[in-house]
Amino acid sequence: MSSESDTADEAVRGTCDDASICKRFAVSVGYWKDPYMQYFVRQAKERKAPEINRGYYARVQGVSQLLCAFLKKTECNCQIIKLGAGLDTTFWRLKDENLLPKKYFEVDFPAIVSRKLHNIKSKPPLSKPIMETHNGDSLLIDAYSLDSARYSILGADLRNLKDMEEKLKKVGMDPQLPTLLVAECVLVYMSPEKSASLLKWAGDTFPTAMFVNYEQMDRLLSNGWEAADAWDMIRVYSSLPQNDVARIEKLEFLDERELLEQLLLHYCISWGTKDSLHLGLAEITF
Ligand SMILES: C[S@@+](CC[C@H](N)C(=O)[O-])C[C@H]1O[C@@H](n2cnc3c(N)ncnc32)[C@H](O)[C@@H]1O
Repeated sequence: MSSESDTADEAVRGTCDDASICKRFAVSVGYWKDPYMQYFVRQAKERKAPEINRGYYARVQGVSQLLCAFLKKTECNCQIIKLGAGLDTTFWRLKDENLLPKKYFEVDFPAIVSRKLHNIKSKPPLSKPIMETHNGDSLLIDAYSLDSARYSILGADLRNLKDMEEKLKKVGMDPQLPTLLVAECVLVYMSPEKSASLLKWAGDTFPTAMFVNYEQMDRLLSNGWEAADAWDMIRVYSSLPQNDVARIEKLEFLDERELLEQLLLHYCISWGTKDSLHLGLAEITF
C-alpha cells in the first residue's frame, strides 16, 4: 500500500475517536444510557454543541430501534455483524437486556481492534460479561482478534472481502442464519466501488438478512437486496418515542433549531432486506 493511502486510512481510523468521544459526551449529559463507553474513551474536555448531541441521539436510537426490531422478528435466533464497529458497546447492552443474538461479530481495522481488545483485557466490567456468556473451549484472544462463544471481534479491511469472509467463517459465521449487518457511518469512508462490492457481497452471501446503514446514501436495491427504504434523520427523530425526545430536549438549551434540522437532513438511515425464510423482514420499519 502506498504511504498516501496509509495516511488516508489513518485519517479514517481517526473518525472512530471522533464518534466515540461524541457518544461519550452525549451519554454523560444524559441523552441515553451507556455504562460501558467510559471504559473506552475519556470524557471530552470541551462540551459538544447541543445539535451534535441530539444528532448522535437520533443516530444511536434510530439504529438501535431497527436492531431491536430485527432481534424481535428473529427471536434472537440470528447473528449480527457490525461493520466498522469502532469502540461500539452494543454487545454489552444486549447482554444486559438479555437480547443477545446467537453470535455477535464486529469488524474494524486491526489497529482499532487492537485498542479495543486492550481495553477489554484490562477492564473487568468489559471482560466479565464476555466470560459469562462464554462456554466450552478456552476463549481465544490475541492482539488483533477475539473469539468467544457469543462475541467475536476481528481485525480486517472491509475492502478485502475474501479475507474478511474467511476470518468471519473461521469464528463461526453461518450464512444460513438470519443476519443483521450494520454499518454506522462507515461506507462513506470507502470508495463507491468498494462500498457497492460490500453491499453486494452481503446480499449474495446471506439469503435471510437485513442491512442497516447510517449515512447519506441508499444503493441497496442495485446491489442485490430485495426491498429497501431510507428515512432522513428528521423523520427518524420525529418517529422516536416522543416522551424520550421531550426528556432529552430538556437536557440542554438549543438556540437555533434550524441548525439541528440542517444537520439531521444531511443524514439518513437506510435499510434493505432479503427474506428467504419469510420472517416478514420487509415489514421492519420505524
Ligand atoms: C465514524 S467511525 C464509526 C464507528 C462506529 N460505527 C460508531 O458509529 O461509533 C468509522 C469506523 O469505520 C472503520 N472503517 C472505515 N473503513 C474501514 C475499512 N475499510 N475496513 C475496516 N474498518 C473501516 C473505521 O476504522 C472506524 O472505526
